[in-house]
Amino acid sequence: MAVVIVLLISLVFLFGFVVWVGPPYLPTMRLQIKTALDMLDLSPGETMIELGSGDGRVARAAAQRGIKVVGYEINPLLVLYSRIITWRYRENVRIIWGNMWTKQWPDDASAIYTFLLEKFMQKLDNKIIQTYSGRNIKLVSFAFSIPGKTAVQDENGVLLYEYSS
Ligand SMILES: C[S@@+](CC[C@H](N)C(=O)[O-])C[C@H]1O[C@@H](n2cnc3c(N)ncnc32)[C@H](O)[C@@H]1O
Repeated sequence: MAVVIVLLISLVFLFGFVVWVGPPYLPTMRLQIKTALDMLDLSPGETMIELGSGDGRVARAAAQRGIKVVGYEINPLLVLYSRIITWRYRENVRIIWGNMWTKQWPDDASAIYTFLLEKFMQKLDNKIIQTYSGRNIKLVSFAFSIPGKTAVQDENGVLLYEYSS
C-alpha cells in the first residue's frame, strides 16, 4: 500500500509541478497535428523546435515528413516515452530533457510548434524575438494566441505566426 501511495504522489508531482514553469501535459489531437504541419509546410531536412514535446506524437508526425525535430520536455517520464515512440526516427528527432525556457534553442530552426497556456504566450513571444532577431522563423501555436499579434493563418484552433528579420 505504501508503495502505491509513494508512486501516486510521485506521479502527481511529476505531472503537476510543471505548472510553475509551463503547461501541464495534454496532447494535441491528430487533426490539429496535421493542420499545424500542413501550415508550416516545411521541407524535409528543415528543423522544427517543439516546446514541451509531451509524449512525442507531434515530433513523430513531423519526422514522418522528413522534418528534423528538437523537442524540449521537462517531465522525465514523457521524455522516456517519447524517445521510445520516436526511436525509429532517431536520426531526425532529438528529445532534450529540461526546461525549454533555459535551454539553448538551435540557431538553424525554421519553425516552432507549441501548445502552451495563455499566460506563457507573451514570454514565448519575447523569447522568440530575443533568440531569432534578424532571422525568419514560423511559429505554430495550438489553442493560444500571441497577445497583440495577428496570426497569418487560423484553422482548427491552430494559429500560424511569422517572425521576419
Ligand atoms: C500541453 S502539453 C503539449 C504536449 C505536446 N507538445 C503536444 O502538443 O502533444 C505541454 C507539455 O509541456 C511540458 N512542459 C511544461 N513546462 C515545460 C518547460 N518549462 N520545459 C519543458 N517542457 C515543459 C509538459 O510536461 C507537457 O508535456
